[in-house]
Amino acid sequence: MRGMRRSGCLPASERVGGAGLASTRAQVGRDGQGGDVVCAVRDLTKTYPAVRGRRNAPGTPEVRATDGVRIDIRRGEIFGLLGPNGAGKTTLVRQLTGLMRPDRGSVEILGHDIVRHPERAARILAYLGQESTALDELTVSLAAETTGRLRGLDARTARAERDAVLEELGLTALAARPLKKLSGGQRRLACFATALVGERPFLVLDEPTTGMDPVARRAVWGAVDRRRAEHATTVLLVTHNVIEAETVLDRVAVLDRGRVIACDTPAGLKEQVAGEVRLELVWRERAPLDVPEVAALRDRAVESGRRWSLRLSPEEARAAVAAVTGGAAFAALDDFTLATPSLEDVYLALGGSAGSVRGLVKA
Ligand SMILES: Nc1ncnc2c1ncn2[C@@H]1O[C@H](COP(=O)(O)OP(=O)(O)OP(=O)(O)O)[C@@H](O)[C@H]1O
Ligand SMILES: [Mg+2]
Repeated sequence: MRGMRRSGCLPASERVGGAGLASTRAQVGRDGQGGDVVCAVRDLTKTYPAVRGRRNAPGTPEVRATDGVRIDIRRGEIFGLLGPNGAGKTTLVRQLTGLMRPDRGSVEILGHDIVRHPERAARILAYLGQESTALDELTVSLAAETTGRLRGLDARTARAERDAVLEELGLTALAARPLKKLSGGQRRLACFATALVGERPFLVLDEPTTGMDPVARRAVWGAVDRRRAEHATTVLLVTHNVIEAETVLDRVAVLDRGRVIACDTPAGLKEQVAGEVRLELVWRERAPLDVPEVAALRDRAVESGRRWSLRLSPEEARAAVAAVTGGAAFAALDDFTLATPSLEDVYLALGGSAGSVRGLVKA
């Protein structure tokens, strides 16, 4: 796996040959895996410059937010970008959508060179930014209709699409409300709805479901799935929700400090931690560290409040369960679960949560 660290996210055929690595220009076409590549990113690099401090305020050092990123996204794929806060996800998608110019590298989407022609991005992709306040003064209805008109729909079609999308997402009752007078989750859903009017073949969504309740989330994934099934829409999705990602994504790239440190299907990534199980221990008040077996587990545990999360081999897990369910530790135990690894375990194994790479479990 370590070899993947610098190679970014490519179909296996290119990874093995390595011939494409020297090239910084994207080749859009078939990827050798039976899929059309609709978005090819090569060597994408962006550094935010240092800012000198003024008076008593400290300055900030320069940040290399994306560092040689290489990704291929195929037609009809729901491709995820996962990574800790500050990993460079938003910076990456802003370069893909033509909103930010990279220092180096190329982005080719549906045959268009987005670095050279950023103005073309609006015609081929829809973008839902991480923060969207631009439409706040408009009503939900007008935001959706105006987006459709700006994307070239005639007035009648824009109104028809507006109504269909608001209905699809359960927003009809809120149509006359200005966005700024909606709740956080409702506003996010309205912005998502707006992004869908005047359909584009490539959808770029930066944390679309943040703040949404389960019903709204399901509406979002339903809408994405329908577009993929009916129009082979391709989706690039930034998310922190690994559990959600596991059910929605076809492939996922894990970004850390501007680099793609792993890329595979959720199942492929999970194989990296296969053979391990996750043991969750929830203590009533605090862990009984006077029990030697419990004290011995502490080094392996990720602690959050009363909860310990451990990745263990099946034998270790069996011994640990025996130790905490028998004897003195049992009285201090509130709950425990044993589970097979999830994408979250992979993420933690990659060091995602800590913001520092601890290496892959099996590397
Ligand atoms: N305008 C800016 N000027 C300077 N540094 C920036 C700017 N925007 C982002 N950064 C820095 O670049 C790095 C990447 O930021 P980015 O917003 O791309 O991360 P992210 O992966 O989207 O994080 P999050 O999950 O919190 O949204 C961070 O270290 C951030 O502090
Ligand atoms: Mg972000």
